[in-house]
Amino acid sequence: MAIQIKTLDQLKLMRRAGLVVGETLEILREAIKPGVTTNHLNEIAVKNLKVNKAKPNFLNYHGYPAVICASVNDEIVHGIPNDRPIKDGDIVSIDFGAIIEGWHGDAAFSVIAGTVDPEDQKLLDTCEQSMWEGIAAGKVGAKLTDISYAIEKYIHSQGHYGILREYGGHGIGTEMHQEPHVLNFGAAGLGPELKVGMALAIEPMITRGSAKTKVLDDEWTVVSQDGSRGAHFENSFALLEDAKPFVLTSLDGGKEKLGALGIEISNLI
Ligand code: MF3
Ligand code: CO
Repeated sequence: MAIQIKTLDQLKLMRRAGLVVGETLEILREAIKPGVTTNHLNEIAVKNLKVNKAKPNFLNYHGYPAVICASVNDEIVHGIPNDRPIKDGDIVSIDFGAIIEGWHGDAAFSVIAGTVDPEDQKLLDTCEQSMWEGIAAGKVGAKLTDISYAIEKYIHSQGHYGILREYGGHGIGTEMHQEPHVLNFGAAGLGPELKVGMALAIEPMITRGSAKTKVLDDEWTVVSQDGSRGAHFENSFALLEDAKPFVLTSLDGGKEKLGALGIEISNLI
C-alpha cells in the first residue's frame, strides 16, 4: 500500500481530531499529580471524547482496553491505566488518540509528577526536542529517514540514552497506524520522498539506560529490561500545499517549537 495522500479538506478534519487530542492531553497534564490514578486520567479522557463528539482509536485496538496509554517510570509505552496512585517523582507518559469523521489524531507526552529529578527532566526534554527536530527534518522533498536521522542525532548530542528500536512513528490518516513506519534512528537519505498531503506521527521513545525492552504479561506494557526510566513524546504533522508543515496535534500547530528551529508553519489550515 502506498502512503496515503490527504486533501486539504481531509487534513482539516485531521486537525479537528488533532485538536481534541492536543486539548485532552493538556487537561491530563494538569491532572497528573501524586495520588491520582491512571484510571482516573483515562476517565477524564473518556469524558473529553464525549464532549467533543469524538471516538477513541485506542479502545479495542487489537483488544486494547482503554482510551489512553499510561506508562510510569520504567514503563515506556503502552501501559494500561490502573488503580495504583501516581507517586511523587514518577515519570508519567500519556499517549492518546481520537477520531473525527473517520480521521485520526495521535499524540503523547511525558511529565514528572511532584518533585522533579533534574536527570529525569533532561530525559524528557531530550525526548521532546528530538521529536521537534524530527518534524523539522520532515520537509517536502526530503527523504523519510532524514526524520529518523535528525531524531537520533539530537538524542545522541544530549547524552547516553537508549533509543527504542522495536517501536517508532507511523503514517496516520483514515487509520491510526499507516505506512510508512518511521524509525527513530538510522542513516539519513533513505526511504520514500516526503510529499504534500502526507501525515506522519513522530514519536521518539528513549530511556536513561539501555534500549532493550520487554512486554509485560498484560501483553501491552513495554518496560525497559534494565529498569531504567523512559520518556515518550508524539505529535502528528502534515505537509501542506504551500510545502510547509502543520502540527495537527499541537495547539499552536507547531508555530513556537518549529519556529525556534527556523521552520515556518503553514497557514492553510
Ligand atoms: N498511540 C500509540 C502509537 O503511538 C498506539 C497505542 S496502542 C493502543 O502508535 F493499543 F493503545 F492503541
Ligand atoms: Co503513534
